[in-house]
Amino acid sequence: MSEQIVKIGLVGFGTVGSGVAKLILEDADSIAAKTGVRLELACVVDTDTKSPRPVKLPDGLLTSDLNRLIKDDSIKIGVELVGGTGVAKQIQLQMLQAGKDVVTANKALLAHHGSELYKAARENNRCIAFEASCAGGIPIISGLRTGLSANNITAMYGIVNGTCNYILSNMTGKNEEFAEALAQAQKKGYAEADPILDISGKDSSHKLAILASIAFGCEISLDDIYVEGIDGISKDDIRYGGEMGYVLKLLAIGQKNNRISLRVHPSFIPRENLLARVNGSFNAISIFGSAVGQVMFYGRGAGMMPTASAVVADIIDVALGNSATSFRQLRLKPRNETAPLIDKISNLVSRFYIRMMVRDQAGVFAQIGKILAHEEISISGILQHEGRGPANSIPIVVTTHPTQQSRVTAALKDLQFLDTVCGKAVCIRIVDIPEDKD
Ligand code: HSE
Repeated sequence: MSEQIVKIGLVGFGTVGSGVAKLILEDADSIAAKTGVRLELACVVDTDTKSPRPVKLPDGLLTSDLNRLIKDDSIKIGVELVGGTGVAKQIQLQMLQAGKDVVTANKALLAHHGSELYKAARENNRCIAFEASCAGGIPIISGLRTGLSANNITAMYGIVNGTCNYILSNMTGKNEEFAEALAQAQKKGYAEADPILDISGKDSSHKLAILASIAFGCEISLDDIYVEGIDGISKDDIRYGGEMGYVLKLLAIGQKNNRISLRVHPSFIPRENLLARVNGSFNAISIFGSAVGQVMFYGRGAGMMPTASAVVADIIDVALGNSATSFRQLRLKPRNETAPLIDKISNLVSRFYIRMMVRDQAGVFAQIGKILAHEEISISGILQHEGRGPANSIPIVVTTHPTQQSRVTAALKDLQFLDTVCGKAVCIRIVDIPEDKD
């Protein structure tokens, strides 16, 4: 059978770029046998042409000159793996204007400027494929767009940042401090160049913006997403939550009823939930569809080869023409129609974990109870270990029944005024994820 030869220009020869080059160079035969598409790496562009990489390129392929890619009409697909929202945007626009389809893993860029780039792609009759932008090697975007296209998606709960999941897993399972676990994640190559993007929850919000836009069929702005990171999490709270039956995860949550709720925050989830068992750098996303019920996607969400797997799958799909078709069919309700549907975090109804350090003396619990009662917050659980008398402070943990966020915010403010409560209370949402059961 004849083969279609497809020339590729790659921009960005970092961790993922090296993985993509390695996959194309080493697996071109098996990919051609399976798909009929023979991938040929025509050039690799990077400002750094000297540092050693985990893959050896044939001589002459590596260049710092982007024009070698842009001006070569035989290159049909441009892969942008530079990352960030600055120069990467210009590179994608240049590639589209030069008549190349674009494949990218750049979630930050799509979350910030997706609409503009999609418009440029349409104007140039090209497509952008971005499977690798969300959850690394997990085919979540094609899952949503193809496999679940018959469904009205009502909710998604995702662990979509491998770095944060690795950190929280190690803090939980190995009793590591935050900084120690972060250093390990960086060493393993999971973290972004700037790990603040990971631990602040921003990277997860970029992925949620992309996933929610596809799942709910509308343009999502990052301003629509409430974001809290894991940087302030202490291993004590992970332990106390564990004693009450919960595991802490950074969840990206999208829910759609009449309104759309989008949020990223540390979440205590029941230990029995499938997502609670997703550990290390693994990602997982539970999707709820009107016809299918619950579907869970699980796999490696970061790292060189898992992300390369998604990039190369997109390259193949672009070469086969599948991406052009699905890109044409991507219809998103415009921003001005979506904005009024977005729910404010203050309206959220959730359960909460509240931990206070209090003086070990008479009447403290009554004071706390009074403040919670005033806001009509019903206590669901209480945890207090044996104290050591009035000279010491001790932790008290209260979990609540479903309560409106604004009431909890008001109660936390009032708790600060009690001189028996030391410092600020820690407040973490408890997320009761529905599970399909037989
Ligand atoms: N820093 C990201 C993560 C890489 O940890 O998930 C993949 O997007």
